[in-house]
Amino acid sequence: MKNYKVGIIGATGMVGQRFCLLLADHPNFEVTVLAASPRSKGKKFEDCVKDRWAMTAPIPEKLKSMVVLSATEDIEEIVSQVDFVFCAVDMKKDEIRALEELYAKHECPVISNNSAHRGTKDVPMIVPEINADHAKVIESQRKRLGTKRGFVAVKSNCSLQSYVPAIYPLSKFGVDKVLVCTYQAISGAGKTFERWPEMVDNVIPFIGGEEEKSEQEPLKIWGEVKDGEIVNATEPKFTAQCIRVPVSDGHMAAVFVSFKDGKKPTKEQILEAWANYSGRPQELALPHAPKQFLHYFTEDNMPQTKLHRDLEGGMAISIGRLREDSQYDYKFVCLSHNTLRGAAGGAVLLAELLCAEGYMD
Ligand SMILES: NC(=O)c1ccc[n+]([C@@H]2O[C@H](COP(=O)([O-])OP(=O)(O)OC[C@H]3O[C@@H](n4cnc5c(N)ncnc54)[C@H](OP(=O)(O)O)[C@@H]3O)[C@@H](O)[C@H]2O)c1
Repeated sequence: MKNYKVGIIGATGMVGQRFCLLLADHPNFEVTVLAASPRSKGKKFEDCVKDRWAMTAPIPEKLKSMVVLSATEDIEEIVSQVDFVFCAVDMKKDEIRALEELYAKHECPVISNNSAHRGTKDVPMIVPEINADHAKVIESQRKRLGTKRGFVAVKSNCSLQSYVPAIYPLSKFGVDKVLVCTYQAISGAGKTFERWPEMVDNVIPFIGGEEEKSEQEPLKIWGEVKDGEIVNATEPKFTAQCIRVPVSDGHMAAVFVSFKDGKKPTKEQILEAWANYSGRPQELALPHAPKQFLHYFTEDNMPQTKLHRDLEGGMAISIGRLREDSQYDYKFVCLSHNTLRGAAGGAVLLAELLCAEGYMD
């Protein structure tokens, strides 16, 4: 892979801080721009985050004294210093949609963590191991935007990055319906226990908008590119409940799955499908690709959030407790790191994929 200069838009936020850690020592990406809201403009990065650095690792030395630019006011300056940007900002959806397209129209590709463009038909929403081929829709997006290089690509919501990777390899058996309950960490809301004391010793049975995303976004991932846009799949059918639990990082999912009539695989076939599953990131040996995407644990009390969320740098998915169910065909649990695989790490892997496939040239 060639070397690229990158910017982090929203660098001071929870996901932005993860980007800082992942990119500070990246073999091919050099961080040349940190940007945030106009409130942070002109300040040193370490001064912007000193009271809200939420990572366990310290602020990377090489980023500390970088002067933060305004993501909305300094676009010309930003795009002149980077080959592409990562974006994770807390703004209104329509503002984010417009901002990301503005960067794209300045011929600066945007790899986004935000949900604003996930429903846009010519914006690929990619889990690199699953639907890398959706990148080809970028060509028609560029035509719509009138760009040569610029485009927007997004990653999916963090909740579904635990269960979609486990269910997708079972598609060959004809998955019919999926019921999922997610148990989601507080970092998914951009929070720590210090900033959200109500979450200590508590469970909140509602996360705004999350159930809709958890049910609908998988259908775009299962979709196909036809006539310059992504046509969503109509099955499998997903139903979800999403619950906030007192965990710092790591989303767990309890999954129930049924197969079409007469297609129910054996337990051994499911385990084999998981063990042998890999995608373009493994083929291309991308820097953030986990060697083994799906890890199955045989012990009844595994995987556990604290023990397994950091597996393979937080980029692998942990699965356990596969067994038959009395109402669905099977049930099992899955775990992924929500700010690594589910947010910044997933976006870095997506960028690596698009660089390796020539979309950033
Ligand atoms: N947390 C997760 O696990 C997760 C997972 C997947 C996706 N996401 C998505 O990622 C995005 C960021 O989430 P987060 O948790 O990192 O939020 P956050 O911690 O609240 O950070 C928000 C960032 O947006 C910047 N910002 C706010 N208003 C802005 C404006 N008007 N113009 C430019 N920048 C502005 C902030 O800059 P200042 O510091 O200057 O205010 C900060 O850098 C959201 O869309 C969220 O839905 C989050």
